[in-house]
Amino acid sequence: MIGLAGLREEMEGLRKAGLWRTLRRFESLPGPRVVVDGREYILCASNNYLGLAEDPRLREAAVEAVRRFGTGSTGSRLITGNTVLHEALEERIARWKGAEAAMVLATGYMANVAIASTLAGRGDVIFSDELNHASIIDGCRMSRAEVRVYRHADPRDLERRLAEARGARRRIIITDGVFSMDGDVAPLPDLLAVARRYEAAVVVDDAHGGGVLGERGRGTAEYFGIETEPEGGPLLLHMGTLSKAAGVEGAYIAGPRPVIAYLQNRARPFIFSTAPSPATVGAALRAIDLIEEEPWRRRRLEDLARRLRAELRRQGWNVPEGPTPIIPVIVGDVEETLAVARRLDEEGVFAPAIRPPTVPAGSCRIRVTVTAAHSDEDIARIAAAFERCRAEKGGRPGAGMVGDGHRYGCG
Ligand SMILES: Cc1ncc(COP(=O)(O)O)c(C=O)c1O
Repeated sequence: MIGLAGLREEMEGLRKAGLWRTLRRFESLPGPRVVVDGREYILCASNNYLGLAEDPRLREAAVEAVRRFGTGSTGSRLITGNTVLHEALEERIARWKGAEAAMVLATGYMANVAIASTLAGRGDVIFSDELNHASIIDGCRMSRAEVRVYRHADPRDLERRLAEARGARRRIIITDGVFSMDGDVAPLPDLLAVARRYEAAVVVDDAHGGGVLGERGRGTAEYFGIETEPEGGPLLLHMGTLSKAAGVEGAYIAGPRPVIAYLQNRARPFIFSTAPSPATVGAALRAIDLIEEEPWRRRRLEDLARRLRAELRRQGWNVPEGPTPIIPVIVGDVEETLAVARRLDEEGVFAPAIRPPTVPAGSCRIRVTVTAAHSDEDIARIAAAFERCRAEKGGRPGAGMVGDGHRYGCG
């Protein structure tokens, strides 16, 4: 390939290592039963935790928004892309989260890049959990701040690193609320206590906690009984996505009004990108209503996740305990994990292998997720497929380190 020396060899290397990826083609609504590449499957790999992505009320809200505002938002929020619908969504999110203000961006990736690269710069230090999502890692890289990666969910290690950075202009701690590949919850009360001692701000990425954790589905802070904006405490900024439990796409940042106004003025992913489309915003607005009005979805989700996790552990798979619908079945190396995924595929269970760079080498896994829309029979069939696979192949744990100290998304 002219001008791209070495690309063919690199591609070959990825293929040989079992790390080449191909797209799968979905041909149905994103419910618990899907048609992929012409075959029917039980889906246990999506982030549609509350089963809202196929909800007729959200689809209707999207259609209504298109009727009123057209298909495209036609420009960035600061030029021609800001409709009454965008502002209504931001007000609705702020009310739901119990925050002073909120802003909406087109994706969670952009929201994390916006936070890290706008609030931190040269002379500042970002403290980042080693299992943070790749979008946080990329935001850190783009910020030009110094990045200190602390041990996963370890406030003591964080404190040690904060103590070494007392001279920094700003200190910002960034953590996933619910870790995307492991499903465990960040120890937010402890992180906030450390932040208070060292005058650091805290950013929590609640992509997988929003809509799922807490009585009203507000996320990780509510799960721990922490106020959205703790009185007299360190700045706590909340990022969340509209693409997972909310069943749409896009993301929000919620927090004190001056911080949100500053981000609207300075965050490049907000300023230099077209506003989310009316369909997206209309559907998301309805989704936030349903997250609040239908708490039974969270209870159902919790119940199904608890049952499936317990059953997989009983079968002998390496599955850590946890309170979320993300159930990591840690297998180990690439080939073995691909073999488990293939076996599940034969059983009609859609649960692809998760490999580097998404997770560290040696900790490849099947990331099982359940949704409130799964039936008891779906859960039983998923469990039965794993049981047959376990009887034939078995799984074993493993862990590895790659990249800059961050362990995920460093490829
Ligand atoms: C923890 C976390 N943060 C951010 C994102 C990015 O969100 P989005 O898919 O909306 O870009 C994801 C997943 O995609 C995620 O898992």
